[in-house]
This record gives sequence, C-alpha cells and structure tokens, in this order.
Amino acid sequence: MTAMQWFFSFLKKYRGRLIFAMFLVTLTSIFAIVNPQITGIVVDDIIYGGNRELLPIMALILIVSTLFRAVLRYWFLYIFEKSSQGMLYTMRDYVYRKLLQQDFDFYNKNRTGDLMSRQTGDMEAIRHFVAYVIYGIYENVLLFVIALVMIFVVDYRLALCMIAIMPITILAAAKQLKAVKPAFHEIRQRFSSLNTAVQENISGNRVVKAFAKEDFEIYKFEKENDGYRDAELKASEIWKKYVPIFEFMANVLTVILYMIGGIMVIKGYMSLGKMVMVSGYLWMLNMPLRMAGWLANDYQRFVTSVEKIYATIQIEPKITDPENPNEKTRLKGEIQFCHVGYQMDDEVILKDINFHVKPGQTVGIIGATGSGKSTLMNLLCRFYDVTEGEILIDGINVKEMDLYSLRDNIGLAMQDVFLFSDTIEGNIAYGRPNCSFEEVVKAAKIANAHDFILQLPEGYDTIVGERGVGLSGGQKQRISLARALLKDPSIIILDDTTSAVDMETEAIIQSELSRIDSNQTVFIIAHRISSIKDADLILVIEDGKIIEQGNHDSLMNKKGYYHTVFHHQYGDFDKIKPHLEYDKVGNGGK
Ligand SMILES: Nc1ncnc2c1ncn2[C@@H]1O[C@H](COP(=O)(O)OP(=O)(O)OP(=O)(O)O)[C@@H](O)[C@H]1O
Ligand SMILES: [Mg+2]
Repeated sequence: MTAMQWFFSFLKKYRGRLIFAMFLVTLTSIFAIVNPQITGIVVDDIIYGGNRELLPIMALILIVSTLFRAVLRYWFLYIFEKSSQGMLYTMRDYVYRKLLQQDFDFYNKNRTGDLMSRQTGDMEAIRHFVAYVIYGIYENVLLFVIALVMIFVVDYRLALCMIAIMPITILAAAKQLKAVKPAFHEIRQRFSSLNTAVQENISGNRVVKAFAKEDFEIYKFEKENDGYRDAELKASEIWKKYVPIFEFMANVLTVILYMIGGIMVIKGYMSLGKMVMVSGYLWMLNMPLRMAGWLANDYQRFVTSVEKIYATIQIEPKITDPENPNEKTRLKGEIQFCHVGYQMDDEVILKDINFHVKPGQTVGIIGATGSGKSTLMNLLCRFYDVTEGEILIDGINVKEMDLYSLRDNIGLAMQDVFLFSDTIEGNIAYGRPNCSFEEVVKAAKIANAHDFILQLPEGYDTIVGERGVGLSGGQKQRISLARALLKDPSIIILDDTTSAVDMETEAIIQSELSRIDSNQTVFIIAHRISSIKDADLILVIEDGKIIEQGNHDSLMNKKGYYHTVFHHQYGDFDKIKPHLEYDKVGNGGK
C-alpha cells in the first residue's frame, strides 16, 4: 500500500457523502453561468433591443440563482467540513493505536516532539486538504472548463485567443508543484525539531532552571525557531516566483478580452451584449489561475504530511505476538533463564544468564550500576527480546506467550517512576480501574503510602501533576509500588523501588510485603543489601554476567563480591563510628 492508498482508505467511509458534495459543487459551478448569460441578455435585448418587460423576470432569475448558489455552497462546505473532522478523528485514533503498539526500541529512537507533530501539524494539513483543497481543485477546474466552453459557444474566435495562454499556466503549475515538494519536506522536518525543542524544554524546565541555562536554552530554541522560519520562507521564495506568473496570466486574459473583443465589437463581428457576457465569465477563468499556486502549495503540504505519518506507522514493532500464542490467563510464576544473552547494536549487555526461580520465591538482584539488572527484567517482560538462549515462565518460552497475558501477569514498578496527571487513586488503580476503593487503600498500606496520602489536601483524590510533580521521590516510588501490587499479578518486579525511601520505611514495606500472597514470585532489584538479604535467591550481576548466586548465607560464606558489598554497607560501620565520634568531639571542642 502506498501512502496515498492508505490515506484514501480513510475516505472510503465518506465516499457517498463526498460524491454528493462534489455533485453540489458541480451544480454551483454550472449555475455560475446564469449571471453572465443574463447580463448579456440585459445588454442586447433590454438596453439595445428595448424589451423592457423582460427586466423584472431577468432580475428575479439573477436573485434566485445567486441565492441558490449560496445555499448549495453552504451545504457542500458543511459536508466537506464534517467529513474531514470525522475522517481525521478515525485517522488520529488509528495512528495513536499504532504508536501504542510500538516497542521500547521505537521510543528509544523516535523523538517525542516528532511523534507529537505527526498527531498535530501533519494531521491538520490532511484535514485542511479534505475540507478545502479537494473541492477547491475540482471547483476551479470545473469553473475554468465551463467558462471556456461558454466563451466558445458565445464566440469561438475569442475563446481560441484566450486558450492560447493555457499551456504556459499548466507548465507553471506543474513546475511549482515539483519545486515546492522538497521545501515542504524541510518544513515538516523543522516543525518536528521545533516541537521537540519545546517539548524537551517544558518537561526539563526544572533542570534548565537548576543549571541556570535559560539563556542557553533560549539560544537553542531560537536556532530551531530560525530554522523553521527559514524553511517556511524558503518555500515561500519558491512559490513567490510563480504567483506573479499566475497573476500575469489572469491579467493577460482581461487584456485579450478587451482588446480583441473590443475590436470585434467595433468591427461588428460580435454584439456588445456578447462581449459583456464574456467579461462576465472572466472571473471564472481568472480565479482558477490565481488559485492554482495556492492549491498546488496546499496539495504538496498535504502529500508531505501523509508521507510522514505513513512512514511513522509503517515501522513494525519488533516485539510481536507469536502466530499461535499460548494464552494462559494466570501464570504460576516459575521462571527459568537458560543461557540468556542480550546484545544491543553490537554491544553485549547480558551474557550467559542462568537461574531458576520457583513460584512464590523472592529473588534479589544486586550489582553495580549499568551491570544489566534492569535489562534482565526488561527481557522477562519482553520489552526487548533475548538475542541468545531463552526465558521460560511455567516452562513456556516467553516468545510463545500472548504478549498481553504475559504482561498482565507481571506487576512492574519501574526504576524511572512515571505517574499520570490524575488523582492518587487513579494512579494506583491504573492496572485495575474497576477495583474497589478498599483494594486501593490496601495496596497503599502495603506500600506504606497510606499515611502520607491521607495527609495530602484531598487524600486519595489529590491530583498529582504531570509525572507526579508535587510528590517527593520516595512518595512517588511508593505510589508506583502500590500500583504494581494492586494489579495482583503472579510476578512482581520492583526495580530500585525503595532506593529513595529511608531505611525505616523500607523495613516496614518489607515486612508488609512478606505478609502478602506467598504465591507471588517477586524480583527485587536494589543497591542496598538490606533490601534483598532475606530473598530466597540472590543474583549478583557484574558486567552483564551473574558472578554469584545463592541465598544470603551461602553468598556470605563465599566471601566474594556480595561479602565485600555487605561489609561496605554494614561491616565497616564500626570502623566509621569512631570518626563520627571524633568529629563530634572536634566540633564540641570549638
Ligand atoms: N536503550 C538502550 N540502548 C543502549 N544501551 C542500553 C539501553 N538501555 C541500557 N543500555 C545499556 O545496558 C547496560 C545495562 O543497563 P541497565 O539499565 O540494565 O543497568 P542497571 O544494572 O539496571 O543499572 P542501574 O543500577 O543504574 O539501574 C548499560 O551499559 C546501559 O548503558
Ligand atoms: Mg536499572
């Protein structure tokens, strides 16, 4: 399917209505001949011929036909406008669904601003085309042809003279269409960049302020703004060259009419009424010529936007459902990583990962930053696909599972907490919107969030700002934890979820967690030993490899990496204490 075929597929539903509207356009254009014809008759028959009794009827016809055309115009404008809104609604919805189906990789590679402009500026260009340009082109061509035919009927010699300029106009329109195409591509590109700059600056405004980089950001924005303006100006430079050609051609027509027509009337080859009649048709020839450049512009803008949107939705997600997915509604939560490796763009991120978790067990994952802990969990959720080995849940390869049911069985509290601008209750109940308020409270209590939520001005109905503005880091983490727990999944992944809460709160959360459903398999990624030391299985990751695995005691006995980290976090405390006391003494002595 080409981009245009894709676009027309959205118009199918409106085909009947649009054809009817086109019929109305045709009628309006045909009725445009009434006025010139009548004025010709008025000159020849009434003014020169003296048939005064014809005057009232002619005046009546003029009024009725003008009114009629106005009504028809209103009618077809309404149909085009309504169809364009309806079509755009469906298209926007379709593109949005496509965007939601895309995987992590797509969002890693595409800028938010670009994707936003597909849904805004590009959509608007398409709507404008459906609402105004389609009928605009048709009406102008029709008016032009009708006027030419009518002039032929009135006097073919005059018509032939007028037609002589046609090839130049057609040539100019074709050249303009070709010339502006790259310019419009550039405009769309610049518009996307501008959008991205605005979006990043608004989302990252706090960082900008913290680093006092306002001037730098304004400078960066101005560059984007300049780029967009220059692209628009470049396009206008191109069509600016063509507008005078069309304007000139329109005027040439007038000159031909009055010069050649005038001579013909003087010489008696044509009546004055006929000349007036032809001059009545002149606007029908002039208007299309004047509009040609604008319509060519709008058409090209539309084509560029359709191509841009189509190119975006053409990107197929790499992570897809298998052909015959295994749709198990409730997983038990037995997990096996068999020789799992993951490579991204030639960079090896995980190597030969092997471990086995029984349903209901808790797994602690610890390791240096960047060692691959989050990636391990991303593979389990199939946000990315393993490049080596396989991951089995309940003995089934995750690649053979239905994506929806796989993820529905996992409650994930991501490292990078994202909250929606919604109430706290809405955020916690995101995974199960129909659950009861009591269930929300229960999840919030386990996550140790209940007390602070009650202290907020409107409790659970407090609206948190975009991304959770208004909450502290630890508060956001606890809401995200409650959100993962409320889903009541068979597998829970807590990626660094308690990193921003104090040790005491963490201990409370842990004791609450240990009391909940023992059938759930829980993964806890943490930097603090205290978060994971009670886990049934602890994985120590370094440079994408599991370097140690076992429970707390066995790892301590190994006296390896885990033992060292434990020592750093607990063991050295006694050695540090005298320094603290020394400091106190030192300060006290001052
Ligand atoms: N989208 C990505 N594209 C390219 N490389 C990535 C991507 N995501 C992660 N990586 C790389 O993979 C490696 C492991 O990242 P990962 O996020 O799994 O680390 P982590 O152990 O969770 O670290 P942290 O403790 O800081 O959260 C890092 O070297 C990182 O640079
Ligand atoms: Mg991580």
